[in-house]
Amino acid sequence: MDVSHINLDQPLSIGVMHRLRFTSDAFNPANRTLRDVFAAGGEREPRRTIALIDSGVGKATPDLAERISAYADAHADAMRLVHPPEVVPGGEAAKNSLNLFHHVLDLTHEHHLCRRSVVLAIGGGAMLDAVGFAAATAHRGVRLVRMPTTTLAQDDAGVGVKNGVNYFGKKNFLGAFAAPWAVVNDDRFLQTLADRDYRAGFSECVKVALVKDPAFFDRIEAAALEIAERRPEAANPVIAHSAILHLNHIARGGDPFELSEARPLDFGHWSAHRLEALTNFELRHGEAVAIGIMLDATYSHLVGWLDRASLNRIERCLRALGFELSHPALRDPEPLLNGLEEFREHLGGRLTIALLRGIGMMQDVHEIDRTLMERSIEHVRGLD
Ligand SMILES: NC(=O)c1ccc[n+]([C@@H]2O[C@H](COP(=O)([O-])OP(=O)(O)OC[C@H]3O[C@@H](n4cnc5c(N)ncnc54)[C@H](O)[C@@H]3O)[C@@H](O)[C@H]2O)c1
Ligand SMILES: [Zn+2]
Repeated sequence: MDVSHINLDQPLSIGVMHRLRFTSDAFNPANRTLRDVFAAGGEREPRRTIALIDSGVGKATPDLAERISAYADAHADAMRLVHPPEVVPGGEAAKNSLNLFHHVLDLTHEHHLCRRSVVLAIGGGAMLDAVGFAAATAHRGVRLVRMPTTTLAQDDAGVGVKNGVNYFGKKNFLGAFAAPWAVVNDDRFLQTLADRDYRAGFSECVKVALVKDPAFFDRIEAAALEIAERRPEAANPVIAHSAILHLNHIARGGDPFELSEARPLDFGHWSAHRLEALTNFELRHGEAVAIGIMLDATYSHLVGWLDRASLNRIERCLRALGFELSHPALRDPEPLLNGLEEFREHLGGRLTIALLRGIGMMQDVHEIDRTLMERSIEHVRGLD
């Protein structure tokens, strides 16, 4: 056989199951949700487990470590803690250095976790990103069970397949695509969030509604004031629907690892990522996304795509949720506009920016008119 010209192009089908659960009071021993996801692999032996708690959650719920231990004891058939539950840094600091990443690798090594063991990460999007990156890297992938504890992590960040840390002062410069073993959203965690962190996650709901689901935008708009008052009966269904839309896009959109140019879920994000870095992460991701949505919606209007009434609705909805849309970082457009090139580099290939043709209707463009974008920045800066 002549082997000098063999070309084999074969698609890889990745047989990965993504498990998303919604529950309340997950560490009540009578609640079997978490136990069942641990047992989902079908193995007889309990999973060797380390549990890590975001410092914000640890502070707000001091008995959590004890409750996790009691839960593990009650479900010793499915999980075995090989290290006491540990509080680790939360917030953007968790992913602004490699400390937490290294710490998780150390624990994985010390406690002999294998690829069937579980890293249970309980925290906000930043902590989940850093812990998830370590779990994706150790042994090329230890099982990761995420328990997102912020609105943003429950409705977006904790649900997907992206893990990573900031590096060279750039958001998510280091990271890996890896599906979690399971994601368990427990609404009880949201009760202890600061107002600011509670609010922040709803910009991602608005984002996904604007690019995918106009009826969902109507629902958020109608519920916005009650959400701002933190009424669970208004807020929880919005969080759940957003999580499901994000997961459906990832699982059914045909491009879980973002190989193509189209990135609808990144609507409003080129500027958001830049604004976070420019403000030294003083702006929360969700707050920056609210501004980013407003910038790209305004630009969509200025190029003649989005009508004025729709732009006004978006602005009113974000305001009703409690977002501030103007920010001092909008004073100098130049450093912000450099975010376009950074975004292109991060995605690879041509610049691709999602714009709006209407509410629930997006379209990609590959060029941004800097003068018009400067006008959008000026408009949003003047909003308050
Ligand atoms: N991987 C992804 O697909 C993805 C998607 C969107 C955003 N993100 C990332 O997520 C991060 C933002 O996540 P976030 O909005 O969850 O903020 P965060 O993780 O920074 O958390 C905000 C603050 O809330 C605290 N906290 C968390 N849960 C708490 C609770 N239940 N009670 C009291 N305090 C609590 C944290 O300690 C922190 O101080 C950004 O780094 C962003 O880039 C990732
Ligand atoms: Zn986001």
